[in-house]
Amino acid sequence: MIARATIEIRKLALHDLDAIERIENAVYPTPWSRSMFAGELAKPSSLSLGGFDPDTGRLVAYLIVSRYVDAWHIMNLAVHPGWRRIGVASRLLDELFELTAGDPRRGYTLEVRVSNTTAIALYETFGFETSGLRRGYYTDNREDALIMWRDPLGHGAVGEA
Ligand SMILES: CC(C)(COP(=O)(O)OP(=O)(O)OC[C@H]1O[C@@H](n2cnc3c(N)ncnc32)[C@H](O)[C@@H]1OP(=O)(O)O)[C@@H](O)C(=O)NCCC(=O)NCCS
Repeated sequence: MIARATIEIRKLALHDLDAIERIENAVYPTPWSRSMFAGELAKPSSLSLGGFDPDTGRLVAYLIVSRYVDAWHIMNLAVHPGWRRIGVASRLLDELFELTAGDPRRGYTLEVRVSNTTAIALYETFGFETSGLRRGYYTDNREDALIMWRDPLGHGAVGEA
């Protein structure tokens, strides 16, 4: 079983944007812009969760999810490099599944770089399975994206037992 870090989780607000940007810029070679985050935070169809250090109140991780007709789409997930491998991302994903549990019509999907074995391993522990490939999806290096899917009950790809 994955250990779960002690963090506080709450919905992100506009006043978290500075902290989000600091983590985003430290984590991704082609980070989202501030306005992309502001747009997601403002959308009623988005679920934006932050994980906070309970001692200092500082943001250590975030998860941005968009609601579509048949799926919750994980748009962004990042954990501060100093807070990794202690179950922070797992806590955020647990919270997502808990908050959306009453929505049996929507599965969960995401794109991930084929080279991002860390994230792929994380998603696999949560029952996501590869359901397709988008060739040259990432514009910075034309890397392919794996499409991953988890059905509403967490039993893997659509159509499988
Ligand atoms: C991917 C990421 C979000 C994982 O966050 P995290 O808080 O460290 O993950 P957790 O501690 O909850 O890990 C849960 C499980 O995922 C897997 N996992 C996480 N990091 C891993 C690693 N470096 N190597 C192998 N497996 C890993 C393991 O199965 C782990 O369980 P275990 O620690 O009991 O073995 C984090 O590494 C990150 O922010 N990476 C950069 C941004 C990114 O790639 N985001 C995803 C884009 S799609």
